[in-house]
Amino acid sequence: MHFDRIVRGGTVVTPAGSFTGDVGIVGEKIAALGSTLDPGEGTQVIDATGHHVLPGILDVHVHLELPFCGTVSADDYRTGTRAGARGGVTTLIDFAIPFAGDSLEQAADNWMRKAEGKALVDYTFHICITRWSEHKSQVKGMVDRGFTTFKEFMIYESEGWQSDDRALFGTLEQMREYGTMLLVHAESARVLDELIARHHTPELMSRYGARLHPMTRPNFVEAEAIQRAIQWCEVTGGRLYIVHMSTAEGADLVRAAQARGVPVVAETCAQYLVLDDSVFDRDDGHLFACCPQVKKPKDVERLWKGLRGGEVSVISTDTCTFSREQKATWNGDWTKIPMGLPGLETLLPLTYTHGVLGGKLSIEELCLKLSTNPARIMGLYPRKGGITIGADADLVIIHPTATRAVDPATMETNADWSPYLGWELAGFARTTLSRGEVIVDDYRVVGREGRGQWLPRTSAG
Ligand code: URP
Ligand code: ZN
Ligand code: ZN
Repeated sequence: MHFDRIVRGGTVVTPAGSFTGDVGIVGEKIAALGSTLDPGEGTQVIDATGHHVLPGILDVHVHLELPFCGTVSADDYRTGTRAGARGGVTTLIDFAIPFAGDSLEQAADNWMRKAEGKALVDYTFHICITRWSEHKSQVKGMVDRGFTTFKEFMIYESEGWQSDDRALFGTLEQMREYGTMLLVHAESARVLDELIARHHTPELMSRYGARLHPMTRPNFVEAEAIQRAIQWCEVTGGRLYIVHMSTAEGADLVRAAQARGVPVVAETCAQYLVLDDSVFDRDDGHLFACCPQVKKPKDVERLWKGLRGGEVSVISTDTCTFSREQKATWNGDWTKIPMGLPGLETLLPLTYTHGVLGGKLSIEELCLKLSTNPARIMGLYPRKGGITIGADADLVIIHPTATRAVDPATMETNADWSPYLGWELAGFARTTLSRGEVIVDDYRVVGREGRGQWLPRTSAG
């Protein structure tokens, strides 16, 4: 067989285990795996000796150029996908959110336009149902168009995004009928509103500042909502995916539901695995406001345990980047902080350094959580999510131990700050290949913007 490229001599991590050897690529696909593949005339050999060769990462929770909290998130499809590529992300899934009377179709069209001509890596969208009574008749059309994951928010009334129990229940029934999946942002809206109202006084704001963000979101705000979403999942049989789960209580609820055979899976994000709410004691603590907020060390430990135990299936980022200037508009009122963190560029470095080098996960387990599971759950496997013959040649080559300091000045993201500033992390991509093409070489982005493709899907869950 003639190979266009051979990735030579790395420790190749596949769903079935790791081996030292070669990956042979023909066109956009992985064509062979072996101990020593023969290069032919014109074959490009990429040396991976002494490196790990991982399947391309799927970040299935990303917001690029999102109008939110009175501003627009600062990474668009150009900077966001460049940042992703440098962190080994070769597929991302964003959320197409209908605004001001838009149909689901129009929301998808809007997000397609954001991505076209800019995306460096492959992408698709979760379709957000924000006005169920209008949108429910449009769901089947979106499935026929190749979108198999839908999203509802249990909060964000002021953004016009909030869904009630009627919407959750009805959408989960549709998910069961169509073989698709509902993603849910689970926080308990009315109790959260009440806690925020009680604390929204000049005295408390001057005393506690950004610490009011975690103070008004105790763990039961997430736990109650997860419990309720699981209830509707259990009675309808529609597949449910809990996004950005941040609490120990959430992990316990998901584990118990899975043991009863309820079709629910859960995602956490890198920030919930490496940060805790002590960040709000810092002078610049307001920068760390995201939704839900980072929790306590005991939650961090429970989420790592959940990754090992299986009740947490996916690690994503919930990338929603805001600059210092955007964050500064809070002026001492925590309810006005644009909520979100940069994440695409550091997903693999953080989870590799703290998870694998920190002794919490094996490298195979990490690949499962960052690549194989998200691909399977989102209906992209086996095209994406594993180093297997016939799959897209999406590969990341990382050095096992060499570290780099996190420094926004040298990064691709538009963020002018980082939650991880100065952290020494291994796991940045030395080389990233997307569908057989080298898009990161020697830690620098070399791929052409606009080459990323939209990925149609036929299933999920
Ligand atoms: O803080 C966050 N996560 N911003 C994005 C919106 C969301 O809820 O995912
Ligand atoms: Zn959310
Ligand atoms: Zn999100």
